[in-house]
Amino acid sequence: MNKEVFKPNIKTISVAIFASGQGSNAKQFIHFFRNNSKIKINLIVSNKSQAGVLSIAANEQIPTLILEKNKFFEDGYATYLKSLGIDFIVLAGFLWMIPEPLLVAFPNKIVNIHPALLPRYGGKGMYGKAVHQAVLAAEEKESGITIHYVDEKYDNGQIIFQKKFRLQKNETAESLEEKVHHLEHAFYPKIVEKLLMKNQKV
Ligand code: GRF
Repeated sequence: MNKEVFKPNIKTISVAIFASGQGSNAKQFIHFFRNNSKIKINLIVSNKSQAGVLSIAANEQIPTLILEKNKFFEDGYATYLKSLGIDFIVLAGFLWMIPEPLLVAFPNKIVNIHPALLPRYGGKGMYGKAVHQAVLAAEEKESGITIHYVDEKYDNGQIIFQKKFRLQKNETAESLEEKVHHLEHAFYPKIVEKLLMKNQKV
């Protein structure tokens, strides 16, 4: 007798990564999800045509999109991203503010990572070494990473996850940057996977 095999029709979750820089986090995501049957990194988006992340995408044969500033701040490419079937957006070193049409089209479906413990050391201009220099100048005992939802303000949305470490003596902006990157690579893809699996209906 022929037993029918039950094959649930599970749609894969299609993720776009937005990045403006070297793209070490984007690379980590691509590797982490390479063999994942439910979550796919299907698009790398950048506002800079020379961004390092684009060569990573090319090597990995992942389609790319270079944003045109006026259009981005007009409609956020929301309709276009929807037409590509994108379900979820991961910001990884993306420096432009996310415009309202994109927030509306992807409610609670855009996340960001910040290289410090929000709500401190966030906001406009707080990116790269400036963040670590501010942490050092304030003689903080701890720093870390924050993964959060994106809203209409910089580094302001609901916090999803944080990981801390203690500062050592003689810590520099460079040493902090390295430690933070290490934590980001270890946790960002894992936390996004958890989030997406929890809210299957993204
Ligand atoms: C990361 O440190 C992240 O916290 C911040 O931008 C940086 C991007 O680094 N939002 P990379 O381009 O992924 O190496």
